[in-house]
Amino acid sequence: MPIESDHERRRVTLTADGPALIEGPVEVVTADGRTIRSDRFAVALCLCRRSKNYPFCDTSHRKHCRPS
Ligand code: FES
Repeated sequence: MPIESDHERRRVTLTADGPALIEGPVEVVTADGRTIRSDRFAVALCLCRRSKNYPFCDTSHRKHCRPS
């Protein structure tokens, strides 16, 4: 089904060294088939896989920042 308007379009923002920020509500399906729902205004999905709350970011990526 085509997306009718920008209102229905979800925005995903990739950060430089951290999570992907996704406007909620969302339904996340994990690699092992679990479905996790969140009604939050925005969620941060972990891309570094260091989060103890994976698939959500718990800011663990900050401990491993690349030097600039
Ligand atoms: S991106 Fe933040 S803990 Fe992985």
